[in-house]
Amino acid sequence: MKARIRLQKDCIISPIDPRVFGSFIEHLGRAVYTGIYEPGHPTADAFGFRGDVEELIRPLHVTQIRYPGGNFLSGYDWRDGIGPKDKRPVRPDMAWSAIEPNQVGTDEFLQWCERIGAQPMMAVNLGTGTPKDAVELLEYCNGDMHTYWADKRRENGREAPYNVKLWCLGNEMDGPWQICSKTATEYGRIACETAKLMKMFDPTIETVACGSSYRTMPTFGTWEEEVLRQSYPYVDYLSLHQYYTNHEGDVMNFLARSEEMGEFIQEVAAICEKIRLEVGSDKHIGLSFDEWNVWYHYAKNGRVPEKWTVARPIEEENYDFADALLVGSMLNTLLNHADVVKVACLAQLVNALAPIMTEPGGRAWAQTTYWPFLYGSQFGRGTALQQEVEVPTYACGVSPKAPYLSSSAVLSENGAHVTVFAVNKSLDEAMTLELDGLNAVLEQHVTLTAPALDSENTADAQPALPREVAVGAEAPELPAASWNMLRFRLA
Ligand code: AHR
Repeated sequence: MKARIRLQKDCIISPIDPRVFGSFIEHLGRAVYTGIYEPGHPTADAFGFRGDVEELIRPLHVTQIRYPGGNFLSGYDWRDGIGPKDKRPVRPDMAWSAIEPNQVGTDEFLQWCERIGAQPMMAVNLGTGTPKDAVELLEYCNGDMHTYWADKRRENGREAPYNVKLWCLGNEMDGPWQICSKTATEYGRIACETAKLMKMFDPTIETVACGSSYRTMPTFGTWEEEVLRQSYPYVDYLSLHQYYTNHEGDVMNFLARSEEMGEFIQEVAAICEKIRLEVGSDKHIGLSFDEWNVWYHYAKNGRVPEKWTVARPIEEENYDFADALLVGSMLNTLLNHADVVKVACLAQLVNALAPIMTEPGGRAWAQTTYWPFLYGSQFGRGTALQQEVEVPTYACGVSPKAPYLSSSAVLSENGAHVTVFAVNKSLDEAMTLELDGLNAVLEQHVTLTAPALDSENTADAQPALPREVAVGAEAPELPAASWNMLRFRLA
């Protein structure tokens, strides 16, 4: 099969906001306890955070990490997670039917972010929480005056403000599974009042309002409109969430989902523009795709276990190679919408729906989905280029003309390279990829393949690892069912 991509250095989509390479840690399952944090672990640092996990996170160059949820957020009182650890309350976590020991809270998380070199993206509880709770958390994190909560932070051992810039106003507030879900009118109002108050305290912050939980929600569209109408002056981003699954066992349809994700982005961007014109504002609301991934086994809220425990192992997906192909394709979709998507978070980072897995007390390893994200994050910084793509298509449920190729093209920050991320979705045919319009030489070709679509990387065996392919003068060949990075040096 043949494909051609035509690029021009000055035909750009937009500079890529580095914050599209963000991720997410929720108090969910083993994401925190026995994930990032396990004081007794042989690799634990002085703060109880796992060194082996940190070593796997660092190469991902995650720009920001969203915290502390997710569904957990809507029942969380941040005050439970500060101060001396032996005085913190143990609480039931209603969102995930688990026990929350509160041994990791705001200070531990924010200081861990500083150590691993990621920015925090904090979220305030607008389920059971109030605007007052939210602004007090902001005061605790960013306050530089001698006020009650800023002084409390100092008392807890942290003199300098954390200066957290990005704040989510609740999470998925339309979801009936949510603790204290809201109508669009109720949420729009509280989001507006909370953001207003928070910006009064610290005008340098940026806020993210909840879009509807998923595109398939009955609220989708009207929710976004109503929320933006109510909160426009105080909100900077609107959130989108999307997980795909292959329950039907139709892999070609599954792989086409990244096209659907593009339509979703365009729809939400159009809604933002419509409301901008309606309210007569010069400000453009950016999109925060702050939960995206593949997810198969949703633990329905009805499935309450008899015994609630700390670090109940839930939502632990063993991602296979087909999942990695879709994750690579979804990342291409985000880059191809760099003009509107300014923030994104792969949901999540460790154990729960994660590219990194751990054994309690034991090993940590990278899943298949780790690799497309790692290369995207390391080499996808710069400016997204427009592509004219010629490639055969196939018919599936998602689209009568789904392309066999998913690709994105990035001009590096120093202007020396163009990097193309390319997924060949054909399961049985290699694809020759011609690049037109650039005076460039292929310098590096990395490919990710696996013995089978259902190959999984485990602690014991890693069948899906990236490898370098020798480059020559001829057009590169993308193996059947493969993710690829092609790095061209501009002449
Ligand atoms: O990431 C897992 C869950 O998915 C989050 O808690 C929630 O926001 C979403 O429904």
